[in-house]
Amino acid sequence: MVSCKTQFLLVFVYLWLWWTTCSHVISAKHSLKPGEKLNSKTNICSENGIYCISFSSSTGDCYLQIVRKRGDSWSVWFANRNEPVDAESAVLLLDHSGVLKIESKHRELPIILYFSPQPANNTMATLLDTGNFVLQQLHPNGTKSVLWQSFDYPTDNLLPGMKLGVSYKTSHNWSLVSWLTSEIPNLGAFSLEWQPRTRELIIKRREQLCWTSGELRNKEGFMHNTHYRIVSNENESYFTITTSNEELTRWVLLETGQLINRNGGDDVARADMCYGYNTDGGCQKWDEIPICRHRGDAFEDRLGYPSTNMESYLANSSYGPSDCQDICWKNCSCIAYSDYDGNNETGCTFYHWNSTKGTNLASGGMKFRLLVKNTDRKGTKKWIWITILIVATLVVISAFVLFLALKNRKLLFKEERRKGMKTNKMTDLATANRFYDVKDLEDEFKKRQDLKVLNYTSVLSATDDFSTENKLGQGGFGPVYKGILPTGQEVAIKRLSKTSTQGIVEFKNELMLISELQHTNLVQLLGFCIHEEERILIYEYMPNKSLDFYLFDCTRSMLLDWKKRFNIIEGISQGILYLHKYSRLKIIHRDLKASNILLDENMNPKISDFGLARMFMQQESTGTTSRIVGTYGYMSPEYAMEGTFSTKSDVYSFGVLLLEIVSGRKNTSFYDVDHLLNLIGHAWELWNQGESLQLLDPSLNDSFDPDEVKRCIHVGLLCVEHYANDRPTMSNVISMLTNESAPVTLPRRPAFYVERKNFDGKTSSKELCVDSTDEFTASTY
Ligand SMILES: *[C@@H]1O[C@H](CO)[C@@H](O)[C@H](O)[C@H]1NC(C)=O
Ligand SMILES: *[C@@H]1O[C@H](CO)[C@@H](O)[C@H](O)[C@H]1NC(C)=O
Ligand SMILES: *[C@@H]1O[C@H](CO)[C@@H](O)[C@H](O)[C@H]1NC(C)=O
Ligand SMILES: *[C@@H]1O[C@H](CO)[C@@H](O)[C@H](O)[C@H]1NC(C)=O
Ligand SMILES: *[C@@H]1O[C@H](CO)[C@@H](O)[C@H](O)[C@H]1NC(C)=O
Ligand SMILES: *[C@@H]1O[C@H](CO)[C@@H](O)[C@H](O)[C@H]1NC(C)=O
Ligand SMILES: *[C@@H]1O[C@H](CO)[C@@H](O)[C@H](O)[C@H]1NC(C)=O
Ligand SMILES: *[C@@H]1O[C@H](CO)[C@@H](O)[C@H](O)[C@H]1NC(C)=O
Repeated sequence: MVSCKTQFLLVFVYLWLWWTTCSHVISAKHSLKPGEKLNSKTNICSENGIYCISFSSSTGDCYLQIVRKRGDSWSVWFANRNEPVDAESAVLLLDHSGVLKIESKHRELPIILYFSPQPANNTMATLLDTGNFVLQQLHPNGTKSVLWQSFDYPTDNLLPGMKLGVSYKTSHNWSLVSWLTSEIPNLGAFSLEWQPRTRELIIKRREQLCWTSGELRNKEGFMHNTHYRIVSNENESYFTITTSNEELTRWVLLETGQLINRNGGDDVARADMCYGYNTDGGCQKWDEIPICRHRGDAFEDRLGYPSTNMESYLANSSYGPSDCQDICWKNCSCIAYSDYDGNNETGCTFYHWNSTKGTNLASGGMKFRLLVKNTDRKGTKKWIWITILIVATLVVISAFVLFLALKNRKLLFKEERRKGMKTNKMTDLATANRFYDVKDLEDEFKKRQDLKVLNYTSVLSATDDFSTENKLGQGGFGPVYKGILPTGQEVAIKRLSKTSTQGIVEFKNELMLISELQHTNLVQLLGFCIHEEERILIYEYMPNKSLDFYLFDCTRSMLLDWKKRFNIIEGISQGILYLHKYSRLKIIHRDLKASNILLDENMNPKISDFGLARMFMQQESTGTTSRIVGTYGYMSPEYAMEGTFSTKSDVYSFGVLLLEIVSGRKNTSFYDVDHLLNLIGHAWELWNQGESLQLLDPSLNDSFDPDEVKRCIHVGLLCVEHYANDRPTMSNVISMLTNESAPVTLPRRPAFYVERKNFDGKTSSKELCVDSTDEFTASTY
């Protein structure tokens, strides 16, 4: 009976709640008229109910907020972000003289949102479906004029229609300011502004410039899945985003300095990663970095109790997390920080290095941010000692095994022969080929300590069982994954597709040779793993992805100024020269292309995927092949048609790459409507007319050396000559590029001058600049 009663009661409560909320919605108004009030029990919703404005409080402090009711239900605007009011008595009031204000019992003075210079009786404040709360004056002749609008005072959300920039008429600036902490909406440390003069978005941290987007030249474009528009006239100059579809786009500037696109979940900017030493991703260099901090040092989230024997506190409620980070960064004895007492995230606790006692970062409970030194990532002193110990033990053991092996050499060798390499199934290194193993081990300790042999389990744990989240891309010879070794080192792990028929020994020999190729412009092979049929290569990890990621994207291409591009061209040519001439093997790459050029943290180029072609086609090293590896658009005519290759086919691909770097356009996707020319043909036509500078990427501003550009184009055209013998060698190329010897021969009409007719017909004219993130496929390694 009792439970029945309570059920009854519950149903009644539900019905009552339903009725009240429903009647609420039905009676919801869209606007406030003179003399009307909005209190903490009422709200105003836009016509289609997309946005509502109301007083609400989460942590006791009450704010007048505009909340989006569809989708994620997020506050997009705060009227009184710095001045919370009392929830019980707060009212928003539009009075008869046109003043829009917030009053609350414990405040002597109201918070004035709008104050009219002349009394205006016929006003109305309306919440629109765009999320804009507008105070309008209704004139007797039927027209309306806007007196005030919430879009002019953005908080941390940029909605379509909001402006970032400056009005020259009122000298009002539109900018976003982040929250102080993730809980407190007060004015925080970061601001997002539009700089009309340089036409770029900037993020500042307490007036310190942290990040810039680079110049946005076009009036409209796409950036991180967002369509943007730039307006500049005598009255105002601003940046705005616009909705392209039903889903609502909105950018949020977080208290950490991250600027994110809430629609796509994409990071527009990571000002939290800007430490003043790096320029990647738009970060800006600072004049002063503390002497004790170095490139690569960064804060990382940790859970635990940083049990150092020295702590200091700073209880300042105007300090958010990024202020604490800044103070810790600048104080050389600081090794970690967290918020003051963990209650409302303001204020700081710092943990210091006490040289007499050291530090111990115990595991356990709370969240703090640890300063991880660049050297820590490579391994601490402790690890060095452990490694030395392990290596020493291994040396002793292997010496012993070697002794045994030598003693039984003949016996073992015979056994091995009998077992035979004929069995096609490859077995784990540890079990098969014991003889070769010992020999390898011996060799490795002699000279090859840099090439690691990893076991399969550690590869699996490094890549999270080859999880798709860790997949970096699909290369010519198999997929590539990001991995983290137990030492904390980040690596790229290439899982070769199972098409090579090479035996284990040949495979290992080949790897030994490839790992000997060491040049600053080649991606370094760090190790390998063989397990049953799997062959896995471990390479150094390149944080900046590949060249095509920047080159063929409207906004990212601006990060590559001419100096960087020339540096990349030079680096690639040096890398190829090394492969062709100075390495012991004379490697022909056969698949040079923009996605095979990876970039390190300083945007220096590194060639990847070299030596694999050779490994996959051992038996065909004579110069013709039936299996053509390569990418359409980069292949020389003789290779594409007859399958013959030489160093000159690499020179051809280099020429294509060079022209792509100069023009910022893909050879295959460039298409001239009038003449059916590909990029090479177009370059040649321009060169022939003496207009070669027109080929230059329009996103490069004027800071280039015209002679250098012309020389590059000239060299590029020489490299794509039809006959292999007419193309220069890589050493010629380098001396021409560096102007040791001026290019003398004139280029002839190049090969593959006219694009194939059956091209899919996409145009790529200068005007049409579309974000290419969709078509981008990650680096191939
Ligand atoms: C404004 O309008 C209200 C209601 O119509 C009226 O009572 C009041 O006198 C008017 N005030 C002025 C200043 O016109
Ligand atoms: C209507 O009246 C207002 C002020 O009375 C004036 O500023 C505005 O220009 C008028 N609009 C038209 C279309 O006459
Ligand atoms: C607006 O920004 C400009 C610089 O961008 C600055 O000179 C000006 O003082 C700012 N105005 C206001 C009202 O903050
Ligand atoms: C600038 O403002 C003036 C006066 O309000 C207006 O007449 C003019 O059309 C505006 N210019 C532009 C480009 O909007
Ligand atoms: C560092 O640790 C030693 C030993 O525990 C202690 O005596 C000393 O006061 C500490 N120094 C500071 C600055 O806390
Ligand atoms: C707190 O920080 C603000 C801003 O940096 C500063 O003006 C104020 O003096 C600080 N207060 C204390 C008690 O340190
Ligand atoms: C670093 O922090 C410690 C502890 O709060 C303080 O004693 C020291 O003065 C600070 N150093 C500098 C350079 O601010
Ligand atoms: C955060 O807490 C501190 C003390 O714990 C207090 O002084 C400060 O007013 C609080 N700030 C906010 C915005 O609640």
